[in-house]
Amino acid sequence: MGPGALSEVIAGLNLPTHPQLLVGLTVSDDAAVYQLNAETALVQTVDFFPPIVDDPYTYGAIAAANALSDVYAMGGTPILALAIAAFPADLPAAIIQAIMQGGADKVAEAGAVIAGGHTVVDKEPKYGLCVTGLIHPARITPKANAQPGDVLLLTKPLGTGAITTAIKRNLGDPAHLAAAVASMLQLNRAMATILSGFAVHSVTDITGFGLLGHAAEIARNSQVGLHIEAAALPLLPGAHEYATAGIVPGGLLTNQRFVEQDGYVRYAPAIDPARQLLLFDPQTSGGLLIAAPPAVAAAIQARCAAADQPCWAIGQVTPGSGIEVG
Ligand code: CO
Ligand code: CO
Repeated sequence: MGPGALSEVIAGLNLPTHPQLLVGLTVSDDAAVYQLNAETALVQTVDFFPPIVDDPYTYGAIAAANALSDVYAMGGTPILALAIAAFPADLPAAIIQAIMQGGADKVAEAGAVIAGGHTVVDKEPKYGLCVTGLIHPARITPKANAQPGDVLLLTKPLGTGAITTAIKRNLGDPAHLAAAVASMLQLNRAMATILSGFAVHSVTDITGFGLLGHAAEIARNSQVGLHIEAAALPLLPGAHEYATAGIVPGGLLTNQRFVEQDGYVRYAPAIDPARQLLLFDPQTSGGLLIAAPPAVAAAIQARCAAADQPCWAIGQVTPGSGIEVG
């Protein structure tokens, strides 16, 4: 669902609270967190979607990396996953097997294990995971704790939506798809491990609502403003040319309309129009967006450089509200 439709539904629900539910629907975060005891809490999340690439094994692996990402975004460690899937009745067993193998191998790479799942018959295939992780209750990295002065870090380049849309329309370069697939297959595990050694304020992962959709959640939940440096945004090869040609997914425009309403986003004059669009590009298995004090952010960037882990400084947290794109 789009961000507007989803928040409308959730706002209309009557949801009981629970003393052990540390993070639930009322605060809108990447995953639910349920405290078991003083030392341990469960992190729980579910995500599934239709095929994003043609190769079934790659699709399964990307869907798994994407589902695992919300656990990393909370600061947790995935331990267990259940597959959730829908397949057409006439889809060959070998294809279903390849999708599931891709998912299982990615879960194993994360150090977790697939323990079961559930499938239904549907015209359009869908696959994903319900993931359980563990976290120390004091180590949760919520969306709601960004502070003015924090530096914003981003760990994957943008553009998976524009590139996969170009491929679907037979207008895309396979080399661009290959780079996008490599990025989507990358677990956020290594970055989460680096972050576990630092006192960061807020972390989320960039997925379907696009960079600004998810950044806006950090800003609103933390009651701060954000400044994003458009020229500093890392882009996947090809993304800029497809956006320039107007080859973007429908979800991008939905995201843009939602985030920009009521003047929430203010643009400096002469922002590159393609970069403006890509701020809203729905990402599959995107990177982590981190808010950390400047000294911490610099130390994280130094650690990332030493570990060959990409990490770009893309802006700052500001007092006030709304998002300024400069
Ligand atoms: Co998320
Ligand atoms: Co999610």
